[in-house]
Amino acid sequence: MDLRLLGITLRQTPASEVIARLLPFTLAGFIVMVITGSLLFYAIPVKAYLTIFFRIKVAFLVLAGLNVAVFHLTVFRRIHAWDLDRLPPRAARLAGGVSLVLWAGIVIAGRMIAYNWFDKQP
Ligand code: HEM
Repeated sequence: MDLRLLGITLRQTPASEVIARLLPFTLAGFIVMVITGSLLFYAIPVKAYLTIFFRIKVAFLVLAGLNVAVFHLTVFRRIHAWDLDRLPPRAARLAGGVSLVLWAGIVIAGRMIAYNWFDKQP
């Protein structure tokens, strides 16, 4: 979805169609990640809370949510004006790019939680 917003892939397909088809999968994936993530956190709450990587990850999760909200409340509302454009407007490309960077950061930070490089002692 972000690559379509960046105008890199699926350029023949209207952006609204790409979003409509992929949204159920992204929502299902997000729900699974929040459930499994909460269980992982429940297993090591103090350790996780004290790691800088967990804090970075939560900050990125909040920013990723804000990015989605801003996208849907602004440029997405005008999607029919740019739906068939091979290169979406700057605001849509920005939303796609920010999303890719934040979600990559969430995955990397999630993996780094296991490494106690900067752990503060409780
Ligand atoms: C919603 C999107 C999320 C994504 C994409 C995500 C991604 C990841 C990834 C890739 C890992 C590394 C897994 C591994 O080491 O094999 C991880 C670990 C972890 N995640 Fe998430 N996560 C998400 C949400 C959450 C949430 C909401 C929480 C807690 C409230 C959470 C808590 C944790 C914890 C504590 C670990 C470390 C587990 C460990 O190393 O023992 N995650 N996450």
